[in-house]
Parts: sequence; C-alpha cells; structure tokens
Amino acid sequence: MSTLAGKHIVLGLSGGIAAYKAAELCRALVKAGVTVQVVMTQAAEQFITAVTMQALSGRSVYTSQWDPREANNMAHINLSREADAIVVAPASADFLSKLLHGGADELLSLMCLARPLDKVPLIVAPAMNREMWHNPATQRNVAQLKADGIHVLEVGQGDQACGENGDGRMLEAGEIMQDLEAFFADKSLAGKSVLVTAGPTYEAIDPVRGITNLSSGKMGFAIARAARMAGAVVTLVAGPVHLPTPRGVLRVDVLSAQQMLDAVQQHVGEADVFMATAAVADWRPANMADQKIKKDGSTQTPQLNFVENPDILLTVTQSPRAVSGELFCVGFAAESHDLLAHATSKRIRKGVPLLVGNIGPATFGQDDNTLLLVDESGARELPHGHKQALAEQLIADLAQRLQ
Ligand code: CTP
Repeated sequence: MSTLAGKHIVLGLSGGIAAYKAAELCRALVKAGVTVQVVMTQAAEQFITAVTMQALSGRSVYTSQWDPREANNMAHINLSREADAIVVAPASADFLSKLLHGGADELLSLMCLARPLDKVPLIVAPAMNREMWHNPATQRNVAQLKADGIHVLEVGQGDQACGENGDGRMLEAGEIMQDLEAFFADKSLAGKSVLVTAGPTYEAIDPVRGITNLSSGKMGFAIARAARMAGAVVTLVAGPVHLPTPRGVLRVDVLSAQQMLDAVQQHVGEADVFMATAAVADWRPANMADQKIKKDGSTQTPQLNFVENPDILLTVTQSPRAVSGELFCVGFAAESHDLLAHATSKRIRKGVPLLVGNIGPATFGQDDNTLLLVDESGARELPHGHKQALAEQLIADLAQRLQ
C-alpha cells in the first residue's frame, strides 16, 4: 500500500505547458488511494480545462476565491484546513515569486498563504524554460522558499516545449509520485548509508555470448527505493537489468561478478548497511574468448571450463567493519526448495545477522514475492505481496534492528 493511501491532497495548478502532466499526476494520486482536490489559477486554465481535472479527480475543481459553493465564501480557508498537503504542479516562475512575497490575489496563492504552517506542508514542482529557471531571480526565490520551509522538488532536464534544451522541465508524474511517497514515509533510516546489490551478473563466454540468470533485479531495486524513502543515502550496484533508477539513488551499473565486487568494495567503506540481493553467478567461464567462437564445420561442440566467482557477500562479512558490527549485513537466499533449512544454514555460512529467503523460480521477473526473514532467534514470514510493499516492511524491520 502506498504511503499516500488515505491522504487528502490539494493539487494546485499554475500556468505552464507542464499542466498536461498534472492530469497524469492527478490520475496516479487517485489510483494510489488519495482524494485529490484540484485548484487551478486562471493561467492554468489556458493550458488545461477544469473539466479534465474534474473528471480525473472525481471532484469539482476550484478556480476562484469568490466560489459561491462555499457557504462561508472562504474556499481558501476550507480547502487548506482539510488537506494533508498542498502540491502545486506545475509551479510557474511567477507563482514561485508570488509565494515568496505572500501574494494572494487569486485562490491558489491565497490558499497557500492561509494554510496552517505546522499542519499542511506545501510542496511545489517548478516548471519553466531553462533561462527562466537559471535566472538569478528564480534561484533566489527558490532558495528563500526552501528557507521558508516550502518543499521545492527538483526540476527535470531535457527538451523543452519552447524548443530549447536544459533544466527547468517539470518532473514526470511518476517521479513526483515517488517524491510524494518518500515525503510521507517514516524516516527510519535517516542519517544511514545503505549499499544494495541487485539483479543478475553476466559472465562472458566470448564478445557476443555469456551466462546469466533469470533475476530481474526488481526486489533489489524495490529495496533501494524503500531505503531511500526511509531517508537513507543509497548506492545501488546493479547487474544488467532494464529498470528505472529509483529517485535519489546513486546507481552503479556492472556486468560481471568481479565488477560487482569491485564496485561494492569501492562503496562499502561509507555504508552502515550492506544488502546483497543480487543473484551473483557462482561460476564464470575460465577463459573469455577474444573473438566470437565460430562453428568450424565439425560436430565438435565447444568445451567450457568454469572457475568460481568471488563471493561478494562473504568478502564483505569477513571485513573488519562487518565483524565488529559497525557494518550491518543482510544476505538473500534464492532457493528452489526447503527454504527454511537452506536459509538457516546459509545465514550461518555467510556470517550475516539477517538472511532473507525467497523461492527464486516463483519470484524471478514477477512483481510480487514472499519473504522469509531468518535471524538467530528464528524465522518470520512477510506474507505474499508486491515487492515494493515487502521492501518497505523489510526496511522497517531493518531500522528496528539498527536501533
Ligand atoms: N552472493 C554473493 N556473491 C556470490 C554468490 C552469492 O554476494 N558469488 C550473495 C547473494 O547476493 C545472496 C547470498 O550471497 O545475498 C546468497 O546467494 P545464493 O545465490 O542464494 O547462494 P550461494 O551462496 O550462491 O549458494 P548456493 O548457490 O549453493 O545456494
């Protein structure tokens, strides 16, 4: 379940071409279980209609401070009192400047000014041309808005509607959703640094062929995201997978087990927690052919010899910081059968305080999973659910262990 479920969010739109993304954001919020009350400025109505936003939010839209539907004619007070947060997306350069100066000549800015500061956070997603974004006036405004306690989301980078290319695009709806989910999550890992490995590794036979496995990386990516949501600084060492990088996570892409070990050793020094979710190939071809191995016309098939890969988790758990308990290590076990027995013995063999078992063939590539948490006192199941939900439960469990 999303951390946003059950929340009431006032979604404000100021004028900008990115208003079309607010439609998608509204839909995503509703899908996550949020009640969305849309408030639009007159400028926003130049870009998208209130009809669209009403249809997507399922509630009539407010566009004027003089809205006679409110019995007391105080829409700005009523709307802001019932909100868990106000999210302005898009927030134009003009709207940011208005917020900064406490302007209140239309409903959206009036409502932002009238919100109870201690109860209703204000989150803004800036959207503008790159020159407008980099203009010292805008940058000054953003710095002051942050100092005033307003949560200013990052801007995206890329092609702009005006034909230019640079910073200032509004984040995509999915990115804003991730930031909002993180905003409402418990910051149980604040101040911690977490290193995660994820996905399979790829062990080359020749320049065009190799050996890998069916791990999709989804569990590890979900864990990296959950750790980030919980306030940790997260580094994700990822094998070859095609998954988007969770917001705010530093990603290091690798192919082979040896590269994964090198990347882990480079980053583990700063980590408080190491979570080895990757399905690392146990063996690699002893010699990688420099050129593609060709069929030579005979019936003879190539003979492959293997050597064992380094055990990344074991290498880390044997390091002085892990042995002293300064670095908390979590291992995973992908088994096909006898999960409890294998996970219990693997925990001891790998020297980890916590080992998370799952049935590999049942979960590889899927969006859901069942996890078995094994520690020295026994085992606890996190019942079948979406990998993101399981990752958040696992991170909550981890945070308790770190206390
Ligand atoms: N692991 C690792 N490096 C390896 C192999 C495994 O870091 N070369 C880590 C995995 O990321 C996981 C744990 O060790 O956290 C267990 O991995 P798994 O593949 O289940 O077990 P193996 O150690 O490979 O043992 P087996 O294949 O015999 O089950």
